[in-house]
Order: sequence, then C-alpha cells, then structure tokens
Amino acid sequence: MEKTFAIIKPDAVADNHIGGILAMAEAAGFKIRAAQMKHLTRKEAEGFYAVHAERPFFGELVEFMSEGPCVLLALEREDAVAKWRDVMGATNPANAAEGTVRKTYAKSVGRNCAHGSDSKENAAIELAYFFPGTALL
Ligand code: CMP
Repeated sequence: MEKTFAIIKPDAVADNHIGGILAMAEAAGFKIRAAQMKHLTRKEAEGFYAVHAERPFFGELVEFMSEGPCVLLALEREDAVAKWRDVMGATNPANAAEGTVRKTYAKSVGRNCAHGSDSKENAAIELAYFFPGTALL
C-alpha cells in the first residue's frame, strides 16, 4: 500500500466542497489515514511550496493557500500518488477530464481546489512536513 499527501484547498473549503472531494477520494478506493483542518500561515505555505519560489505565481499561490482553512490529508491505496493525481485531474481545470475533482469544483489554475504529491519521494516529504511525528496507520 502506498500513501500520498493531499490538500483540499481554501477555495473548496469555503465553497462547502470538503464532503464532495472526500466522497470522490473514498469512491476511488482511498482510505483516509489522517485528516486535519488547518489555516496555514504564510510561512507554512511558503515552506510547503518552496520548490516554486522562483515561479511568477509564487506570491499569488502563497496568498491563496493562506487565505482560509484547508484540509490536510494522508490518503492510502495501491498506487496512491498516481491514482490521486488521476482523480484530481489536470492542474488547470480547463484541461481536466470530466468527473475529476478539478473539473467538478475548481475555477482556475490558481484556485484549483486540490493538491496531490507528484512523486512517492515528495509524498514522504510532504506527509512529514504536515504530519510530523505522526505514526500514520
Ligand atoms: P499544486 O498541485 O498545489 O502545486 C503547485 C500549484 O501552483 C498548483 O497546484 C497551482 O495551484 C499553482 N499554479 C500552477 N501554475 C499556476 C499558474 N500559472 N498560475 C497560478 N498558480 C499556478
């Protein structure tokens, strides 16, 4: 079994889509191994997205991710990293397939309602960043 790290972002939380997104995760066979609602500080958002620090959209991304509470998740199933990225759909909802989280709920590439780790290595780093010292079941 593999774990991935996911975030239900502040836009989706504000728009009452936590339940809808969790239902899509469960329907896709994921077990929710950890869940925490958290309003990220700017510092936490900057640290989490440090790899994007040089991108032109970094300021906008940090602002958005710290504008309100989000839901941090550890999701588990076979091939979790790739499968959660399938369930989310393309980063830009305009390019996301029908039935995906982002096609269903996201408004733009910046406000795209969900995050998922892009590799097993980054999943381990991201899970440790937000669930430090937690023995995930
Ligand atoms: P995420 O999977 O959380 O990882 C990096 C995030 O940067 C991405 O989702 C988007 O929310 C954001 N992002 C990527 N490209 C752009 C862009 N062109 N403009 C604004 N935000 C972007």
